[in-house]
Amino acid sequence: MKYIIGNWKSNKNNAEVESWFGEFSKTYEKLNRPRFDNLQIIICPPFVYLPESKKYLEKFSLPIYLGAQDISPFPQGAYTGEITGKMISDYAEYVLIGHSERRKYFSETDSLLREKVNMATASGLKPVFCIPDKDTEIPENVTIAAYEPVFAIGTGQADNPQSANNVAKSVKDTRKASVVIYGGSVTPENIRQFLTAGDIDGVLPGKASLDPVVFWEMIRNAPLS
Ligand code: PGA
Repeated sequence: MKYIIGNWKSNKNNAEVESWFGEFSKTYEKLNRPRFDNLQIIICPPFVYLPESKKYLEKFSLPIYLGAQDISPFPQGAYTGEITGKMISDYAEYVLIGHSERRKYFSETDSLLREKVNMATASGLKPVFCIPDKDTEIPENVTIAAYEPVFAIGTGQADNPQSANNVAKSVKDTRKASVVIYGGSVTPENIRQFLTAGDIDGVLPGKASLDPVVFWEMIRNAPLS
């Protein structure tokens, strides 16, 4: 089983979300509704589009799961602006935690991220915990880690599949997480190299997930087992 997790980041408006699912489902129909048996396909839209995205997945019967891009470290209550695990779990199964953009632009620290992981698991969400290198702390209860070297994010300069694989192996060998995926400039052209490297269990494309045609190319280029 390999994961393909599309992170839309802070992109799209309502009409663009509608068009993404409309276009994606057209190809899905054209291909006679493939079952993606060996793939877990997940889309992480901005919070405000989780309800709409869920409606489109149901409307078009798409075998895709949803993830949030972040989660509040607090339970419900007087925390203006925050989105809780309880809210997210109405719509999504997964949540990205500790993305390097959150660490960089919002000063998220290891201890804050631990709280977020706790909230995610308490809400029945599966955390996808992002780390920039193999030495970054991964909280307990994290099954899926995403290795995302900062130099590769949004730059068009993906890591070398072999070095990404070494990080994945090291994270698994040290039992910090049992599933390790790679993110950073993943494209339809390089996805297969990462997914066949040996220890990499999936990919986390950002830019290449924004266009449904490109996203389909990645799915079609993923190895079948
Ligand atoms: P990118 O983003 O594919 O646009 O490099 C990856 C990520 O930040 O998750």
